[in-house]
Amino acid sequence: MTPMRLILLLALISLPGWALAETSVWPTKRSSDTEWGEDLFNKHCWQCHGRQAEGDGPAAEALQVPVPSLRGVSTDATRSDLVTTARQGQGPMPGYHESISRQDMRRVFLYVESLDKPQTKPTDDPDDEPEGPTEEGNAPEGEGNAPEADAEGGE
Ligand code: HEC
Repeated sequence: MTPMRLILLLALISLPGWALAETSVWPTKRSSDTEWGEDLFNKHCWQCHGRQAEGDGPAAEALQVPVPSLRGVSTDATRSDLVTTARQGQGPMPGYHESISRQDMRRVFLYVESLDKPQTKPTDDPDDEPEGPTEEGNAPEGEGNAPEADAEGGE
């Protein structure tokens, strides 16, 4: 095998690696309790309670007991009790006391509560609105910019 072929082969082999790195699904940072809670909810709870916590997950049909919607039930006043319930388990719902700490379960409910609120996504991205002139096509224009015109000399 020639060195050139070897290089091409190596480039091919490493290609999928780059592609994967580009489309990585994991967020680079966890900025809030709500996001952490969202991850936990989407791992443990949505199958029964539904993606939007409305009690309509795909596993709900298989259960004898109706799965309650979690929308609107969690508030500052009730959150602590709900955390206890979810960690203890209830009816067909398994208890999560071993897999989810109280602190993390609280985050799950903070996420569920956030579903009830109007979405307020922070728009602190400075790249949102590019400003200033673009590089091309904006050269200053004007009359009198043609140097060939006055080659004859003046009066
Ligand atoms: C296997 C399906 C299933 C999964 C998974 C599941 N639940 Fe449930 N959940 C239920 C069912 C069914 C009930 C109603 C139990 C009953 O009425 O006896 C319930 C009840 C609850 C309640 C009580 C609601 C109320 O108003 O009293 C809370 C809170 C709750 N679930 C939270 C969660 C959280 C948080 C998770 C994930 C960590 C989760 N559940 C995962 C099926 C599930």
